[in-house]
Amino acid sequence: MRVLVVGSGGREHALVETLAASHLEPEMFAAPGNPGISRIAETVDIPADDLVALRDFAKEKNIDLTVVGPEAPLIGGVAECFWEEGLRVFGPSRAAARIEGSKVFSKELMRNAGVPTARFEVFDRERAARDYLRNMGEYPIVVKTDGTASGKGVTVARNQEEAEEAVRAAFGGKFGDDGRRIVIEEKLEGREASIFVITDGVDILPFLPAQDYKRIGDGDEGPNTGGMGAYSPLMWMEPPTYAAILEEIIQPTLRQLALIGARYSGLLYAGVMVTEDGPKALEFNCRFGDPETQVVLPRLGTDLLELMLACEDGTLAGREIAWSSDKAVCVVLASEGYPESSHSGDEISGLDELPAGVYVYHAATGERDGKFHTAGGRVLNIVGTGGTVIEARARAYAAVETIHFEGMQYRTDIALEAIELEDI
Ligand code: AMP
Ligand code: GLY
Repeated sequence: MRVLVVGSGGREHALVETLAASHLEPEMFAAPGNPGISRIAETVDIPADDLVALRDFAKEKNIDLTVVGPEAPLIGGVAECFWEEGLRVFGPSRAAARIEGSKVFSKELMRNAGVPTARFEVFDRERAARDYLRNMGEYPIVVKTDGTASGKGVTVARNQEEAEEAVRAAFGGKFGDDGRRIVIEEKLEGREASIFVITDGVDILPFLPAQDYKRIGDGDEGPNTGGMGAYSPLMWMEPPTYAAILEEIIQPTLRQLALIGARYSGLLYAGVMVTEDGPKALEFNCRFGDPETQVVLPRLGTDLLELMLACEDGTLAGREIAWSSDKAVCVVLASEGYPESSHSGDEISGLDELPAGVYVYHAATGERDGKFHTAGGRVLNIVGTGGTVIEARARAYAAVETIHFEGMQYRTDIALEAIELEDI
């Protein structure tokens, strides 16, 4: 069995590690991978968005399953590209990946499926959007550009001025074509959770929920990032709420995709706000979350490769998924200047002496003369596991203390609220 993982971040490192541990004993490949991944897989120098080169490689090497980490190749149609050649790929079709690639598609799909979500309007002209904002009494409000805009297309505007600025930026070409249409929607209040399910298009198997920390600074201050930490499971989420998310958000969405003929197999990720009126969908992603994957996979008690093969073969029905009772906490170490910029080439020390119960995933590292250095914004993901959140968190932060590079920044409050909620 040969498996190829596409991507180069901490999420892909966690995927490669978990897949490599399968009892099917796969031979692992990664494109392009990173120095951490290169310890457990053969890395090949193909960028994640070169769909044809990926397919040719998979064909030439007789890869049995390709697992796609980032959204861009899926939105670009990597699944169809592989299917045409009879190759198996874990991830949805291009038509279904629009659920992440287009906010307008996603919101309209939710409306048609009756999925609870923030009230919204779509605009394709700046004038109409600004008129709408002028007549709108209610602030804050959320402005979203239609395309992914590298994760920077969402503005939570506190007043009309900020909202108008976001609208101007979008139509003014700040996000290229991604800004030609926008969604303006109601701001939801509550706690946010990341929900992952895997599906073969008909049946689903839910993973345990996780929480992500998007802002750079402690106390959720400062600009948005790709994610500065995560923990799982969520002790604040009651089982009936989780069941409602599956029944009212996930299931109808997948049914609606099937109804419009958009083939979805792979992982569906719902960003959910648990409000006073129940859970509501914020957004969907067509792939594993980063860094949530890093706190979910180390606790998975079922063979991930078998589950993924079942998704591709349409045989998920009747399968079960087991979890360790452990908790996991992930702290992201970022380089100087992140998220506005990033710093490369700073030598990383302290990665040799990591204690038990700690996982280190490389997210943006380079290697020179046997030494690791920074090579981007989010550099390393340090995951602590343990029987309680206190223990998992203490392990993660103790490991963080032993690691050093120039300008290293991280949040000190990851999973702090979870300790307060923990019943021990
Ligand atoms: P999205 O790319 O749609 O997930 O938006 C990014 C982040 O913006 C979400 O994870 C939320 O934290 C926030 N956000 C998006 N939409 C809303 C909303 N309607 N109400 C409150 N926060 C939101
Ligand atoms: N952690 C947010 C994301 O993966 O989109």
